[in-house]
Amino acid sequence: MSYDALAPFYESLERLTFGRALQAARVAPLQTHGRQPKNVLLLGDGDGRFLEQALATWKEARFVSIDQSGRMLACAARRARGLGNRVRFVQADLHDGLASLEAEAFEVIVSHFVLDCFPEARLVALLPLIEERLAPQGMWFISEFSASRWWQRALLWAMYRFFHGFTETEAARFPDYRRLLEETGWRSKRLGLWRRAFVVAEAWQRESSQGCEKVRL
Ligand SMILES: C[S@@+](CC[C@H](N)C(=O)[O-])C[C@H]1O[C@@H](n2cnc3c(N)ncnc32)[C@H](O)[C@@H]1O
Repeated sequence: MSYDALAPFYESLERLTFGRALQAARVAPLQTHGRQPKNVLLLGDGDGRFLEQALATWKEARFVSIDQSGRMLACAARRARGLGNRVRFVQADLHDGLASLEAEAFEVIVSHFVLDCFPEARLVALLPLIEERLAPQGMWFISEFSASRWWQRALLWAMYRFFHGFTETEAARFPDYRRLLEETGWRSKRLGLWRRAFVVAEAWQRESSQGCEKVRL
């Protein structure tokens, strides 16, 4: 089963496992970011449930959405219909999609539950490409899992058995993306926690740009 095959069931599967927690984490930036960005880059946005809300909230923004799954992008395009012609969909591996954007700089980058798809070695290669696409003082919103209790570790283990075994998910275990980001000069501010802190939404910014303008939400 690939993400293409999973696309029609993705939302139901998520609801069964997490209820509304993941969607709450996705939309947290829309409720806390006190600005209207001009442009937004979505990394692995999947079926477009964040995009739909973002189009309605960030009314002036233009979006680029990179995802390798054609069916996920088709779901997202359906959800975006009627909300203005403001989205460019790029069907590509994240690395190639980011490289294809060249000189574009985005005020906001969003990755919800997608860094966990990559092994750490791949993240090390992706991070500079993502950073290059972020405008000075831009904000990167990340939602992810954070397993500290036994049942959270067990659920994460089961999710990796499923996603690594049955989809294109490259990672076989949860990557320590937080350490990689902090080691390369990124700092975060928490936007919210759900499911006893198993789900976390954060705003990340380069430490150097925080000197000019602190993470402003
Ligand atoms: C776990 S889903 C998360 C989807 C969505 N962001 C969400 O909040 O539910 C991972 C998404 O990333 C995409 N993806 C996984 N690996 C990718 C890669 N190497 N390049 C581009 N997209 C990728 C998948 O197609 C899928 O839509």
